[in-house]
Amino acid sequence: MSAARIVVVGTGYVGLTTGACLASLGHRVTCADVDEGKVARLSAGRVDILEPGLAELVAKGLTSGVLSFVGQARDAVADAEAVFLCVPTPMGAGGAADLSAVEAVVAEIGDALPPGCAVVTKSTVPVGTARRIRELLGRSDVAVVSNPEFLREGTAVADFLGPDRIVVGSDDRAAARRVAGLYRALGAPSVVTDAASAELVKYAANCFLAMKLSYVNSIAELCERLGADIEAVTEGMGHDRRIGRSFLKPGPGWGGSCLPKDTSALLRTAEAARFDFGLLAAAIEENIAQRDRVLAKIAGAVGGTLAGARIGLLGLAFKAGTDDLRDSPALSVASMLAAHGAEITAYDPAVTRELSGLTVVDSAYRAADGADAVVVLTEWPEFRQLDWTFLAGLMRGDSVVDTRNLLEPRVVLDAGLSWQGIGRSSAGVLATSVS
Ligand code: UDX
Repeated sequence: MSAARIVVVGTGYVGLTTGACLASLGHRVTCADVDEGKVARLSAGRVDILEPGLAELVAKGLTSGVLSFVGQARDAVADAEAVFLCVPTPMGAGGAADLSAVEAVVAEIGDALPPGCAVVTKSTVPVGTARRIRELLGRSDVAVVSNPEFLREGTAVADFLGPDRIVVGSDDRAAARRVAGLYRALGAPSVVTDAASAELVKYAANCFLAMKLSYVNSIAELCERLGADIEAVTEGMGHDRRIGRSFLKPGPGWGGSCLPKDTSALLRTAEAARFDFGLLAAAIEENIAQRDRVLAKIAGAVGGTLAGARIGLLGLAFKAGTDDLRDSPALSVASMLAAHGAEITAYDPAVTRELSGLTVVDSAYRAADGADAVVVLTEWPEFRQLDWTFLAGLMRGDSVVDTRNLLEPRVVLDAGLSWQGIGRSSAGVLATSVS
């Protein structure tokens, strides 16, 4: 594979991971970002994002000279073979994706691009964006290729270097194949298609994951009403290769910077196409209902009244392995509890900053101190290692609500506390063993 000359615009999660990983494959990569301060920090090898392996890859790229950072994208594209657009596409008015950052970059670099260059959308963009970019560029000698990413926060580098597949789409198939060729060293299967299909793959995949989770949370609710055990049920489901074992863990609902945004954007896209995507709408509604169910479970754990109750929260991030609070189910449960007059003290290993409406402390024991109930909201493994007997002695009450089914119920029960999970009860757990 020959080394390509690549420019990556935007150095957030997607952009920096893309730039550093493509450089690690031997390509010569320049990352551009409008934030001059960030460019200076990155040029010095300082990475602000909590992502395992990313800082090391950036340092390696800088040392070997294949990776560099600049402020002006326009100055960097003159000899680029591919320019990856990795700028934010946040949820805009009405829930559709906001493409203003993408359009601004296209306007900035458009006439500076060399003939034969490919403009590659890596950010999550709605179907039709490649066509829109081609119109904005107004150039027949530059191709536009959609190349969605499937990175998960907390495992972004591993996901990039070990992808399940590479998806590329363009109405210029040769350009699509050229972009797929940049990943040849990874040895992953590639899907080469048209731009619209590639753009839709990303949404279809993410929304399917969200629906799978909403379905599992619904089954968990049924388990509670029927006296069944969700762990046994998902174990039984997961053996079916058509279903798969992953993404079957019930919880307080799905969140983060992607699933909520992408489900809402696809729903808007469907509406604009006059398709009533009831299935997706139901998955979103179910996700909201799951948070309400968690709130009701916590209220039940403190005797029915949240006003004046002291709640110790374990976990604020939307999932373990990240400090990201964007659309975090944990944070929305915390604010709902506070809105009902509960007193909240929270601990998260990755979140140390103050947050309005709740007290953030630096240990799980301090969060449990004087609490009527302790609630696990993020699946940080360290919560399993806690001394639950010691923790029980600190609490005012004796209730533990484990919205991630993370803890070993027997350990919590042996500490003299009650344990409630999602889709399983302590009585059921002690009776069931999954071999
Ligand atoms: C997601 C997609 O997985 C990824 O492919 C895409 O590129 C970006 O969006 P991410 O946002 O990092 O990645 O989160 P993910 O690991 O997918 O988790 C999403 C939410 O689902 C989290 O709130 C997580 O806690 C929840 N979840 C996940 C469950 O409740 N149960 C599970 O079994 C898995």
